[in-house]
Amino acid sequence: PSRILGALGMSVALAFSSSAMADGPIIVKFSHVVAAKTPKGQGALKFKEVAEKLLPGKVEVQVFPNSQLFGDGKEMEALLLGDVQMIAPSLSKFDRYTKKLQLFDLPFLFDDMAAVDRFQQSDKGKELLNAMRDRGLQGLAYWHNGLKELSTNKDKLQRPEDVKGLKFRIQSSDVLEAQFRALGANPQKLAFSEVYQALQTGVVDGQENTWSNIYSQKFHEVQKTIAETNHGVIDYMVVTNAKWWDGLPDDIRAGLEKAMAEATKYANEEAAKLNARDKQLIIDANKAKVVQLSKDDVAAWRKAMAPVWKKFEDGIGPDLIKAAQASNN
Ligand code: LMR
Repeated sequence: PSRILGALGMSVALAFSSSAMADGPIIVKFSHVVAAKTPKGQGALKFKEVAEKLLPGKVEVQVFPNSQLFGDGKEMEALLLGDVQMIAPSLSKFDRYTKKLQLFDLPFLFDDMAAVDRFQQSDKGKELLNAMRDRGLQGLAYWHNGLKELSTNKDKLQRPEDVKGLKFRIQSSDVLEAQFRALGANPQKLAFSEVYQALQTGVVDGQENTWSNIYSQKFHEVQKTIAETNHGVIDYMVVTNAKWWDGLPDDIRAGLEKAMAEATKYANEEAAKLNARDKQLIIDANKAKVVQLSKDDVAAWRKAMAPVWKKFEDGIGPDLIKAAQASNN
């Protein structure tokens, strides 16, 4: 940690002196792991468009999609080292920085995306944007993707017992690990950029993701069945390096805040549209079969995953869980 802190201090010092000396625009590198035609991909491009319009000649935003610049596992360190200024990891990927965000991975916590949105916009939700400041990370906004579906390379995927013994790719989240263990399955943490190949070669049997990620990564072409479980959520926190952010000239920070607010609104509208569109495109492609669950099926999944909550309750904080649950009405 001291080595990282030392490097962080140095790169922040360098970043300050170079932006103070140079006449050119401040470069804001925004790195992410998904395709451009996804909610996050579209949000990043909208942020660039608005930021450069509001701060002409003062700011240049460079967007790097598809893990091109940094993938999972590298992007947070890169942010702390000043190699990139903005990233938007899924809320499942902050385990190492705070336990509080594990909240969002609790299975069947939110009834729908409207509930997720209500919680994120509440005081408790907004507070979480500051939960990692002591680790050098400043949250700027939540961006939606959507609810997760479950897919496998098997014909039958209806009830929890159908996934017993199967290997699943998961994001780097201890909650998701516990979720699949509760189902009697074998979770394996893998970077997003490695999932397609892992599914194709049978390294894993299945995965969980949104319609948008499944379609844009072509997971439906290497899976047999997708069950519409809606058992969890993939949303993002746009985060920046707190020191870099605090050190920006006031007018630049204000402009970037405004651009972020517009990009957030746009990304969240796109999220619902893109997931609905991609679900239909997956059905039309007719490669993987899309399975609907009955109320009874959903109840069985819910019950099978329920033990996960107890395990993480203390780390997350019971009050936070209650507040999130309250957003379901
Ligand atoms: C995943 O790893 O499956 C997602 O978090 C990717 C993303 O950024 O949507």
